Amino acid sequence: MEKFVVEGGSRLEGTVKASGAKNSCLKLMAAAVMGDGPSTIGNVPDIADVRTMIEVLRYIGLEVSLAEGELTIKPVESPVLEAPYELVQRMRASVVVLGALLARFGKARVAMPGGCNIGTRQIDLHLRGLEQMGAKLGISHGYVEAEAPRLTGAHIYLDFASMGATENLLMAAALAEGRTVLDNAAKEPEVADLVGFLSKMGARIEGAGTSTIVVEGVGSLKGAEHAVIGDRIEAGTFLLAGAVTRGEVNVTGIVPGHLEMVVEKMREAGCDVEEGEDSLSVSVPGTVKGIEISTLPYPGFPTDLQPQMQVLLTTADGTSFVTENIFDNRFMVVDELNRLGADIKTKDHHAVVRGVEKLSGAPVTATDLRAGAALVLAGLIAEGVTEVYRIEHIDRGYDRFAEKLTSLGADIRRVEAS
Ligand code: EPZ
Repeated sequence: MEKFVVEGGSRLEGTVKASGAKNSCLKLMAAAVMGDGPSTIGNVPDIADVRTMIEVLRYIGLEVSLAEGELTIKPVESPVLEAPYELVQRMRASVVVLGALLARFGKARVAMPGGCNIGTRQIDLHLRGLEQMGAKLGISHGYVEAEAPRLTGAHIYLDFASMGATENLLMAAALAEGRTVLDNAAKEPEVADLVGFLSKMGARIEGAGTSTIVVEGVGSLKGAEHAVIGDRIEAGTFLLAGAVTRGEVNVTGIVPGHLEMVVEKMREAGCDVEEGEDSLSVSVPGTVKGIEISTLPYPGFPTDLQPQMQVLLTTADGTSFVTENIFDNRFMVVDELNRLGADIKTKDHHAVVRGVEKLSGAPVTATDLRAGAALVLAGLIAEGVTEVYRIEHIDRGYDRFAEKLTSLGADIRRVEAS
């Protein structure tokens, strides 16, 4: 086990480049399973979740190689149509192979994902949509057993604009017979990135980025080349690192428009944010003031930046109100922030953050990757030393997190945790 040891007090300055988006890359890898030929995916982040998804694809039988941020994925004729519990339990995003395997091979056996630290993570919307497309589903011994000689298009209304359900059903629909309409679909940029890749493979999909996506099923998909979009959540994390340290940070390699609401809220809190062609830069000319934040599906404020934004608000001049509408347990970071001297009270889906003069360093524990990143940001401004334990959570989704922070002037070291 390792920990980060962070010495507070540095003002971050400089430029970092965001890596490829974790929450797109994992789905592109699943989509490659559906191709009749090899696919190449570029701008792949060097993170644990990508390595886990490589294990999933290799378990299925695909030939996967990764070199200098480029994945090559070669499909096979007789794959193992299964994603085992050990891998799904390690990374619930593995469930997106369900739609791909079912659509391409007519059968799939995927472990039900366990719960996780940020709340119940159902897949009922995924399963209901597949059933509407004619899949026969059963649950046995903790696995979803799915069969469908050929899926047929359907008009599916998602109760909630679920990212995973949208992606699983999109992939299933790409090879289904006829037309599928996905209503109340997720509009996240990562969904649009998946549609971009599927279209290059020969899929016929309209409406990406809107809440109604229409898919005309085709007979087969070929391999394709694609580069992952920049990671807006990693970028937002570094912008907030610059803001909390009252520094000047520029993040490149992104589509600025993907962070519109985050930029809006940072400006409302008193940050200066400049937009470049493929970059955003932040500075804080005066004081940071308290604001209200509500997490919502895109283009609303992203739940994946809620913990990091709370860190900025812990030392704001005033009180802030944070409402978490996406996950039912994503305030785990609050107890850890209060150990560092923050003054946050939570009740159900609401947190009241009263600004304090300063934070003071202490040992804290990461409960998920975004909470872990938030605790590092808090350590950057806490007086003295902050030790962040369970940083394997951070390694799941941040590519060279400490190295990038160090390049901006942070005092952070990765050491063995006794
Ligand atoms: C994706 O998770 C992301 N993960 C999450 O990022 C992100 O927080 C989330 O979307 C919301 O933006 C990946 O892309 C790998 P959802 P996903 O389906 O697809 C409920 C990170 O930190 N729901 O939009 O699982 C569910 O319980 C991670 O990078 C159902 O009830 O999110 C949750 O409360 C964390 N039934 C909410 O919807 C379903 O069938 C959001 O789920 C599906 C979802």
